[in-house]
Amino acid sequence: MKKLFLNWKQNGSLQSITEFKNNIHNSNKVVLFPPLPYLTFSQSSKFEIGAQNVSAFNNGAFTGEVGASMLKNCNTKYCLVGHSERRELFKETNENLSLKIKLLKQHGITPILCIGENLYERRENKVFKKLNHQMEIFENNVLIAYEPIWSIGTGITAKIEEIEEISNFIYKNYSIKIIYGGSVSSNNAKNILQLPLISGVLIGGASLKVNEINKILDDTSRC
Ligand code: PGA
Repeated sequence: MKKLFLNWKQNGSLQSITEFKNNIHNSNKVVLFPPLPYLTFSQSSKFEIGAQNVSAFNNGAFTGEVGASMLKNCNTKYCLVGHSERRELFKETNENLSLKIKLLKQHGITPILCIGENLYERRENKVFKKLNHQMEIFENNVLIAYEPIWSIGTGITAKIEEIEEISNFIYKNYSIKIIYGGSVSSNNAKNILQLPLISGVLIGGASLKVNEINKILDDTSRC
């Protein structure tokens, strides 16, 4: 079953989560990634819960960090690892992300490793080199979200042929289907989710509008 992964980033409030819980259609396809303080409040029988980040360390003296065991306590099923915003703004590296993946797996949470090239790398034909480097820390039972950086929050979705090219490349080399992210909305989700090597979509901006997600659920009920 193809899933919708909803990354709310640093957005939302108790009020908007209540509205989301009340209005989202019943399905077993939605995973909500709220900001960490709202993890427990967000629980609902209508969808699963994911976290946007986790500490690279076991519990201890790491002020401000949230450990994998705490996420597990809050019924978290998935956790993003290495979203491009974290790699760029918080200087996360393969070494640090690999620790996060191991801790998540130890606690029975599925890591979603985010990979993707920037515009310069695409123009200079360095896409596969970049993705292979980011995939060095891939291991079993890790999901992969391909999110071209030039497409995140820009309204420019990768072309279907571009998404196919990357999903073929990852499948051929790592035997796994990918989640696609980057300006996904009700205008393009159906076409993307119909691709055979796509297992879901990671939605940022559009996921804050519950009607938009309900529209995607309706449009893609057969995907
Ligand atoms: P976007 O964000 O849908 O707003 O492009 C996607 C993401 O950052 O995961």
